[in-house]
Amino acid sequence: MKRPPQGRAIGVVGLGYVGIATAVSFANSGKKVVGYDVDDERMMSLKKGKAPIFEPGLSELVSRHVKNGRLSFADSVDDLIGACNVIFIAVPTPSAKDGTIDLSFLKQAAQDLGYAQSRNPGWRLFVVKSTVVPGTTMNDFAPTMAKCTGGTLGTGFSVASNPEFLAEGTMVEDALHPPRIVIGITDEKSEKLLKSIYAGFHSKVVVLSPTAAELVKYASNSMLATRVSFANEISRMAEKAGVDVYPVLDAVGMDPRIGGKFMRAGPGFGGSCFTKDIKALIAWAKASGLETSLISATLDVNDRQARHVVDLARESTGGLKGKRVALLGLSFKPDTSDTRDSRAYTIVEELLWQEATVSLYDPVAVENFRRGLPHGVADEIGGRLFFASSLKEALRGSDIAIIQCDWEEFRRTPTANWKLLKDKLVVDSRRTLDRKALARNGVRYVSVGLGLD
Ligand code: UGA
Repeated sequence: MKRPPQGRAIGVVGLGYVGIATAVSFANSGKKVVGYDVDDERMMSLKKGKAPIFEPGLSELVSRHVKNGRLSFADSVDDLIGACNVIFIAVPTPSAKDGTIDLSFLKQAAQDLGYAQSRNPGWRLFVVKSTVVPGTTMNDFAPTMAKCTGGTLGTGFSVASNPEFLAEGTMVEDALHPPRIVIGITDEKSEKLLKSIYAGFHSKVVVLSPTAAELVKYASNSMLATRVSFANEISRMAEKAGVDVYPVLDAVGMDPRIGGKFMRAGPGFGGSCFTKDIKALIAWAKASGLETSLISATLDVNDRQARHVVDLARESTGGLKGKRVALLGLSFKPDTSDTRDSRAYTIVEELLWQEATVSLYDPVAVENFRRGLPHGVADEIGGRLFFASSLKEALRGSDIAIIQCDWEEFRRTPTANWKLLKDKLVVDSRRTLDRKALARNGVRYVSVGLGLD
């Protein structure tokens, strides 16, 4: 490791999206940060000052802080422990088949850090940043640490929870300027240390217990997802009532008790977090003997909404059998190549089920989408699933288009290009295009929550 800062640096273990964004945000606030990840390729890239993933603003900050020495990387957990008095753990907690979270990466990290701590004594604070269900830090992480360190919680070491609220695409901005910082601690020493680390962020620090902090993370994501499903359910009513849901929800959001954010109707939410977190919370609640009618419904509405987009296309054409549909936008939101849990998968499934042929296009996410298809699907479907290399290629030869994700490229495409569609019909699930301009060009426009008022 190059010039390790001694003793009082901040450690970050697990350098995925959250870990790197967290590390650069601390470095940017003037702190010394040491990172570690088990992935050698990732570490090699970071040591050279190169961000191994794309996120706006990330590569500049990684390069700047590696150069100025505030951000360095340890070759082993022991090196990291030697350099730090506080270590943030941001390893993945993926979904297991039954919806619960898989804690194996966190357990491994706790063991590695615990044994390294036993070889490098002195009080340290271990902070769980990974998303974990209520109770995990105190009931799983802390006992594993105690066992491996041979020390006692509170005197030999302390644990804390510090959930992240970073959204993809704005991760760096969110990490640098968090609207609130939630820390879950068990002693004053940990509270003082975490508050001093976050002092430079000028954000409100909410102090809770570790278990309460863990619940804040799940409650926040469940609330956001529920707002989206709520907007989508109201959008179906707007369609029946013959009105446009967008101005309706804008007016609803003007009530300061409600607020207008996160109420855009569309094809439903995707991404690596909402569905995973809600499933984990439901599984945790069930194991605790609780019913979760509201957040369970959030997932049901979300699944139906993506299928409803296909229904809108079917109802507007009188059947999709034998039709060729250009499905545009494969990532879960624009400006990312991330296709995890993208609604595009559900839409493709439904289109194939309704015996349509699908031509897929995305400016950056095609490869990720292909990799995320269930094994063998592309082969099994034979000639009914195509990947187009440009928007024009996807439109040419297709009967209709469905926009799943509102990429700027679609917005900027000359209106005349949409006339390439044989049925001259666009189903725009995200209000990407100018419907009046399309109408002037003889292209029909259908959208989620757009009743014919
Ligand atoms: C989400 C949360 O916003 C973050 O605060 C949280 O930290 C993160 O999960 C996580 O747990 O790690 P993210 O999944 O990156 O972040 O993306 P969002 O911007 O929240 O969007 C999620 C989905 O909801 C997208 O598919 C988006 O298109 C959809 N959405 C969002 C709507 O359909 N309507 C809206 O009004 C807002």
